[in-house]
Amino acid sequence: MTNPSPPFFTYFSIKGLLTEARQKLADVSGSAALDAELLLAECLGKSQTYLHTWPEKNVTARQKECFQKLIQKRLEDYPVAYILGKKAFWTLDLRVTTDVLVPRPETELLVETALQKISNTEKPQILDLGTGSGAIALAIASERPDAIVCASDSSQAALKIAEYNARKNGLDAQLRFIQSNWFSNIKPQRFDLIVSNPPYIAPDDPHLQGSIRHEPQLALTAANSGMADIELIIANAPDFLKTNAWIILEHGYDQAKKTQQLFSQHHYKEIESRKDLNNLLRITLACRI
Ligand SMILES: C[S@@+](CC[C@H](N)C(=O)[O-])C[C@H]1O[C@@H](n2cnc3c(N)ncnc32)[C@H](O)[C@@H]1O
Repeated sequence: MTNPSPPFFTYFSIKGLLTEARQKLADVSGSAALDAELLLAECLGKSQTYLHTWPEKNVTARQKECFQKLIQKRLEDYPVAYILGKKAFWTLDLRVTTDVLVPRPETELLVETALQKISNTEKPQILDLGTGSGAIALAIASERPDAIVCASDSSQAALKIAEYNARKNGLDAQLRFIQSNWFSNIKPQRFDLIVSNPPYIAPDDPHLQGSIRHEPQLALTAANSGMADIELIIANAPDFLKTNAWIILEHGYDQAKKTQQLFSQHHYKEIESRKDLNNLLRITLACRI
């Protein structure tokens, strides 16, 4: 099948192009206005502020053609982050490709909680399982220059992106990258904190339609109604945690209870779930006895 030709825009002005693009994107995106601004700013090589400051300015034919192409990609449901090749997370600018999950703002709750739990630990040793773009590992490292973060993933392609992001953000001295199927290749040692945002969507979940289908399946789905990787991590983490050290896991909005039960079965203490910005229980933490 050939790609349909890019949507045609009548206007040349910034304001006109943004209005037309917003209307075209309304059916595929819950953030049509923002998407249109980010994509036009990219084609002009300018900031979003520029678009607001100069709404009447006309773009060149080449810039308009670029915008039409990017809007076409968005209409095919590609996440804006993949189209732009970057995503802001925490205070960092991260490179993202289709080899890694697009970091979500909800995951910042995990970072915030992690920073609280290591606030009294000097030179904390941290393990981030399933690091993807490196979002969590790098955000923690950026706030704690004394921390050493071991970032692991089973995907070599994802690790390359995470390593690039560490260098780009000047954090590579604090990071160690390891290709590992969960704990299988992590050398025996005890960490002050383990964090993970593992795959947790059931393979038959209808939410896997839409723009999420462009993200790596390996990053999204897990067997046993999405609980298989969470269970494996909870069962094995005690061998890699110091006494009284914390583990923090992100999970689906309806998996807090099951995650708490698993922590309980594996004899952790101080088990607690926390709500994200949307008032949903999205992380569960526990302490090794
Ligand atoms: C939901 S993504 C999280 C990515 C990143 N930490 C974030 O929060 O944006 C899950 C990550 O786990 C990795 N993963 C999947 N199966 C794995 C396994 N068996 N061992 C290690 N990592 C795995 C995926 O490659 C992916 O990068």
